[in-house]
Amino acid sequence: EGGDKPPGNKWSFSGPFGKFDRGALQRGLKVYKEVCASCHGLSYVAFRNLAEPGGPGYSVAQASAFASEYKVKDGPNDAGDMFERPGRPADYFPSPFPNEQAARAANGGAAPPDLSLITKARSYKRGFPWFIFDVFTQYQEQGPDYVTAVLQGYEEKTPEGVTLPEGSYYNKYFPGHAIKMPKPLSDGQVTYDDGAPTTVAQYSKDVTTFLMWTAEPHMEARKRLGFQVFVFLIIFVGLMYFTKKKVWAASH
Ligand code: HEM
Repeated sequence: EGGDKPPGNKWSFSGPFGKFDRGALQRGLKVYKEVCASCHGLSYVAFRNLAEPGGPGYSVAQASAFASEYKVKDGPNDAGDMFERPGRPADYFPSPFPNEQAARAANGGAAPPDLSLITKARSYKRGFPWFIFDVFTQYQEQGPDYVTAVLQGYEEKTPEGVTLPEGSYYNKYFPGHAIKMPKPLSDGQVTYDDGAPTTVAQYSKDVTTFLMWTAEPHMEARKRLGFQVFVFLIIFVGLMYFTKKKVWAASH
């Protein structure tokens, strides 16, 4: 059995000219760091990525300072020992568990998935040839709509007549409705310094926007190039039309 259909959202990054909302990316990073990171890795994202164009908009110095707040495993050193040191821009976000077994053991048998690509992994794509139409139907929003819905999909009480397996929680949008992730967010849990509301709804949207960026860090450049390609093609079609007329003109 599937989950309920997630409601749609107005994402700043949707559509051919969509861009990431910098404020949402910065707030979402804070939510990831303070809440999600205790269970979920982000192993494809390096600290230096936080200073790249099209991302949260931090300077290299800010990304370095952010990295240095983490402890990163390194080694072996000259003495053959492994050691910990402060993070550097080239390091990737450290994972909360040493391996999958440990991740499962700590979470009632279900390993929390790495979140780097989750918004893509949970977006649904149709088979050939229908995926062609998905280009026009904003399939890029399905993953984010789902992720943000799951984060907000917990109910105060398990509905009448539903029995949950040990260590599971009722979630409207998770397929099968029994999820092993405890409700991660509550109002007021993360402080924001830009005046954005500190609500579960806002946290969910911000962290989902951030996770959309981690999954597609070059989205803005891709869309810009795509637009330029269209402009070029339109001009090129015009030129070719006049070329054709000249080449095939009747000679007198
Ligand atoms: C699963 C996001 C916090 C433990 C998931 C999934 C997402 C997600 C998208 C995948 C659902 C699916 O498979 O369709 C987040 C975000 C968090 C967060 C954005 C922070 C706001 C946490 C925390 C814990 C946790 C703090 C641990 C206490 C898990 C577990 C699963 C999971 C165990 C696997 C659930 C299952 O397969 O039944 N999370 N999570 N998550 N998460 Fe989280």
